[in-house]
Amino acid sequence: MTEHSRYNVGGQEDGGVLKNKLNINDQKTLEDAETILFSDAYKYFFGLLEKGKLKFDVKFIFQIHKYSLETLYQWAGKIRTVEISKGGVLFCASSQIEKALKEFEKILSQNMPASIDAKDIIIEKLAIIHCEFNAIHPFREGNGRTIRLFIDLLVVSHGFNPIDYAKSSQHDYIKACIRGMSKDYSQMQEVILKGLSK
Ligand SMILES: Nc1ncnc2c1ncn2[C@@H]1O[C@H](COP(=O)(O)OP(=O)(O)OP(=O)(O)O)[C@@H](O)[C@H]1O
Ligand SMILES: [Mg+2]
Repeated sequence: MTEHSRYNVGGQEDGGVLKNKLNINDQKTLEDAETILFSDAYKYFFGLLEKGKLKFDVKFIFQIHKYSLETLYQWAGKIRTVEISKGGVLFCASSQIEKALKEFEKILSQNMPASIDAKDIIIEKLAIIHCEFNAIHPFREGNGRTIRLFIDLLVVSHGFNPIDYAKSSQHDYIKACIRGMSKDYSQMQEVILKGLSK
């Protein structure tokens, strides 16, 4: 399936494949390149985490996106300028993203896991962070991978393993994201509970 048929967006497609700096025009090759870049980003940011250099704020989410995708896309680390919907669900209007991110910054600081938090409280907080970020969907592409990496860094900093989303089906994960769009975080909590281990 091409990007064009999956996403309702304007402008940047080139024969169904996202326009990119390396002029890759084959979808599979582009996806492979993205996979390599995100895997490099995991190594890079987990290296920084070991040095204790991370501050978990919105700026950092943008840094993750930029570092991960700037080899391929000029819009890496930048707010999208096109409207995006998935499965009939419209994400935040591009004109409202900046405002929504200011709200999200508050949500993020209110829901930072603390070392005294019980596991169920940490799961509640992570579900809110994941779902609220997804509802904004500030980037043109790569929103899911970026917030999952951010949350993985966060949980590892609290002594957990990275979250294993494969413990839930793709269907249940997407359903959890859809529910989260209307602030029902319960299914995302389920997904995180299944995937979170020490
Ligand atoms: N119908 C939907 N409603 C709400 N959220 C959705 C829906 N479908 C997918 N999502 C969310 O959007 C994310 C995909 O967004 P995007 O394509 O920008 O990220 P990605 O990193 O490229 O993809 P993926 O997360 O699939 O690896 C999914 O991870 C999920 O969180
Ligand atoms: Mg995508």
